[in-house]
Formats: sequence, structure tokens, C-alpha cells
Amino acid sequence: MNFETLAIHAGSEPDAATGAVIPPIYQTSTYKQDGVGGTRGGYEYSRTDNPTRAALEECLAALEGAEAGGARAFAFASGMAAEDCLLRVACRPGDHVIIPSDAYGGTYRLFAKVLSEWGISFTPVPLHDLAAVEAALAARPARIVWAESPTNPLLSVPDLRALAAAAHAHGALLVADNTFASPYLQRPLELGADAVVHSTTKYLGGHSDVVGGAVVVPAASGALAEGLAFTRNAAGAVPGPFDCWLTLRGVKTLAVRMDRHCANAELVAQMLAGHPAVTEVFYPGLASHPGHQVAKAQMRGFGGMVSFRVRGGEQQAVDVCGRTRLFTLGESLGGVESLIEHPARMTHASAAGSALEVPADLVRLSVGIENAADLVADLEQALTVQR
Ligand SMILES: Cc1ncc(COP(=O)(O)O)c(C=O)c1O
Repeated sequence: MNFETLAIHAGSEPDAATGAVIPPIYQTSTYKQDGVGGTRGGYEYSRTDNPTRAALEECLAALEGAEAGGARAFAFASGMAAEDCLLRVACRPGDHVIIPSDAYGGTYRLFAKVLSEWGISFTPVPLHDLAAVEAALAARPARIVWAESPTNPLLSVPDLRALAAAAHAHGALLVADNTFASPYLQRPLELGADAVVHSTTKYLGGHSDVVGGAVVVPAASGALAEGLAFTRNAAGAVPGPFDCWLTLRGVKTLAVRMDRHCANAELVAQMLAGHPAVTEVFYPGLASHPGHQVAKAQMRGFGGMVSFRVRGGEQQAVDVCGRTRLFTLGESLGGVESLIEHPARMTHASAAGSALEVPADLVRLSVGIENAADLVADLEQALTVQR
């Protein structure tokens, strides 16, 4: 089956008891057992397993792993919970991790403020520079190379296949945060990654109405998958059944939404690239983007995220964020509605003063699926006042 078909049908077999076409919300914490140890289908407690969550996981596993020999997916209460669990399964005190030099601020904070207290060290490296990655791996053994592609918020595009080869040559795992691309545009397991993480809050959910996360690993990765199942149950950062249901509902339309996100973002990026108030545009779909060729090779489309720098510095960036009428000023991304934000003061404030600090004149857009001309006009009016 092809992607669009899997997105709608994987995990969504009509309910055996009633024929319900959509998986029910199993809003239950526990399950009646037919005698001690006599579970029905293995369900005993909803921290461990829940049928609505299982439906979502079956779908995510199919989307990320169909062409990679199968996969197992684990849903979490948030993207950060997914990252935390994966790192606690894969790493031990004393281990070292290479992270992107422009990682999502929350990921940086997890390493810098939480995991460093538990003996896990990290080095930020520009992952689109393979020689820099090789040098970092040669200088100090790493347990994990942690990639994002494209990165948040600078949209750099590391070559995931080359990173997997480099990581494996040095005995490290490659983890890919696939939040910005979604499995419709990019499937890191097919490119050699050992695990994929998602903030399902974003494109997978797609409607800005639910927070969630996921880890997807190849079906053959026995120990990693068993560790994730064990630690998620032991530590307990699970999503509720309604959240899983909302996410699964969002996933069904992922393909058509992403096509529109990509088309709209391309038009927005082209307008910005020609605008006198804009000094630099970050969008992998622009031929001038340094990662354009890599993105073309490893992605089906270039995504819905666009960042740009303004000529007037930080104040102008903040002003533009306050002037749009259609783009809503807010954190997060990947919903049907367009959002605008100032990373240095908002999503990436936790990276201030670090090697991952983002430019103060940077604006980030999550381009939604509204009418493209309306979106372009809104940005033009927000920028025009500045000239
Ligand atoms: C690339 C990326 N990874 C992970 C996360 C964390 O996900 P969540 O907010 O669902 O915890 C985010 C959130 O913005 C993100 O952008």
C-alpha cells in the first residue's frame, strides 16, 4: 500500500465488536480479566497498553517503516517525553551525544539542564558539515548522533544517509528528529537511522489541538524496542486515549496537508527572497539554500517551515511578528493555520548565551494551508511598514 492509503487505514481496521469505522476512544484505565492472568488481548492497565494508543502506534510504524522492513512505534505524552525516554534507554552515565549546532531549544535544554546532571555530555556540531561530524566522532566516542532535518529554526539539512554511515562507522546510533518533515516528506529509517523521534504535536496531529510525541525504531531493533516499552511503562510518560485519537485523526490527512504546506511555503519563501526588508531566507526549497540538493535527494517536498532575517535587526523582527493579521503570533508549528514567532525570545530563548543561540533578527513562519495569496499579502503588509 502507498503512503496516503496507509495513513488512512493502518491501525484503523473497523472495530471487531461494532463495526465502528473509526477506532473508538478507549477511555479506560483498566481492563476486566477473565480469571487471574486471563487478559483479553494482553490489555491489563492503560499505562502499559491501550487500544486507541495501539491504533496510533500501528499507523505511525507503518508510515515510517513500511519501506524499511517494518517498524515499531511508541507514543508519548509529548515530543520531549519521547526524547527523554529514548535517551534514557540508549545512554548511560558517562555517555556522550553529538547534537545539531542549531537544535530545537527544548532539545538543547534537555541535554544542558537535565541530562547533563545525570552524566550525559553533549557537543553541538553543524551536522550539515560532514567533515565536522567525522572530526567530532574521531575526537571523542559518541553513543548517539542526534540529528534534526530540517533543523528548527534555521532549516539546515544534514545528509541523513551520510550521517548514518559516519555514526555507524564509529559505533554510534543515528537518531533523527523528523518533526519538521513528517514521514510523508522524509523517512529516516529508510536512510539508515536507528530511531526516529517526533513531536506529533506538529504536522502529524496537524490541527494545534493536541500535544504528543513518538519514537519509531526498526522492527529488527530488538533491544532498543524492548527498552522503550519497558522504560515508557516504568517511567509513565504516556499519552491519554483521547490525545491518541486526535493525533490518529490528524494523521489520516497528513499527505494532502503536507502537499499544500509545501506549495504555500514555496510561494512565501519566493516573495521573501525578493523583498528589500529581508536579508536572508532559510527554506530548503530555494535553489540558493546550501542544503537544497540534499533535501531534494532525501525529501519528497521541502516542508512548510520558512525562517528569514530582517534588515532592521531585532526590533524589526519583533515588530513584524506583531503586525501580521493572518499569521498568528504563537509558538508551535505544523497546524493548518499559519503561525509566526520570534525564536530568540520565544521557542529558542533557552539557547540564549549558548553555542546554539539564534540570530536576534530571525523570524520563523509555520506556513499553513490557507490561501497562498492571502498569506503572501499578510506578510507583505507586515514588512511594508518597515521600509
Ligand atoms: C523539532 C522539535 N522536536 C521536538 C519538539 C518537542 O515536542 P513537544 O513540544 O511535543 O514536547 C519540538 C517542539 O517544538 C520540535 O520543534
